[in-house]
Amino acid sequence: MAEIGKDIEKAARILSSGQLVAIPTETVYGLAGNALDEQAVLRIFKTKKRPEFDPLIIHLGDKSQLNEYVREIPEELQRLAERFWPGPLTLLVSKKPVISDLITSGLDTVGVRIPRHPLTRKLLQSLDYPLAAPSANPFGYISPTRASHVQDQLGEQIPYILDGGVCEVGLESTIVGMEEGQVIVYRLGGISVSDLEQTVGKVLILPQSSSNPKSPGMLKSHYAPKKPVVLGDLEALIEGYRQKGTVFAVLSFTRTFPDLPESLQLALSPDGDYDEAARNLFSSMRLLDASEADVILAEELPEIHLGKAINDRLRRAAAK
Ligand code: TXA
Ligand code: MG
Repeated sequence: MAEIGKDIEKAARILSSGQLVAIPTETVYGLAGNALDEQAVLRIFKTKKRPEFDPLIIHLGDKSQLNEYVREIPEELQRLAERFWPGPLTLLVSKKPVISDLITSGLDTVGVRIPRHPLTRKLLQSLDYPLAAPSANPFGYISPTRASHVQDQLGEQIPYILDGGVCEVGLESTIVGMEEGQVIVYRLGGISVSDLEQTVGKVLILPQSSSNPKSPGMLKSHYAPKKPVVLGDLEALIEGYRQKGTVFAVLSFTRTFPDLPESLQLALSPDGDYDEAARNLFSSMRLLDASEADVILAEELPEIHLGKAINDRLRRAAAK
């Protein structure tokens, strides 16, 4: 099992020796390694069982470190960085040669992010290299939002988990880049589209396509529990599955169902708060995935605030 603790210096020592450490961020926990050490980067792919065609993003402690690793940042993206960094935003920008093709899977662009979790920021500021870190889950499964989630799935394979508590946002970062003067959102995430648009005007949300995955996190089936997830109108689904005699669990936005067992239902936010719903999404899916149910029934949220990104994750979970 991995040691779980809050010792930043210990985490730094382990990382500098080429080993991996799970780190807390405001979005989800990351599986971090020295981005300038090819062996460490290879170890990330191996530990997650992640295909090497799926590029990693790098994490920095401070904007002053940026120009060591990236060529230039278009003006629109700079404005987004000003407004949302540190925070749940990843920018795709052209890389300098010091960032290896292994990180970017041969692409000219690298995903960069300055996270705002205080422990990890302090850690990053103490290092003289960036951290490559995908979400700390086996490839294709739900991202971890607490240290115990990482321990459950990767604890046998890594020496240390830096414990930063429950992730404040709970959804992965929003990934943004530019093509031909147009700002493009490649992955919906912790910063809502409306917040982005307040800063840079209309953005294009690149429709996901599994035949042409610009970014494999955009693969149709991803972020998925082991149990099947069925999305739709909860009343109708409950009625249908009850008649079939299947044991089901229910994941709703706000509602509870008095005639269903308490252990087989969760509401993401009884008060209808989108931030709370995002924060609870992945841990709720994990809990229901570990329940005795054979199937998870869920409903989409209204497409406002983080509802869009939450629905994106629900649809991918249901696409399996
Ligand atoms: O919130 C987050 O972004 C978390 C925390 C740990 O920072 N990290 C994370 O990493 O979600 P990961 O690897 O699980 O998801 C990053 C996504 C992947 O789908 C990858 O394909 C895409 O970003 N990506 C990375 N670099 C890219 C690039 N140069 N071009 C296109 N897509 C890229
Ligand atoms: Mg991931």
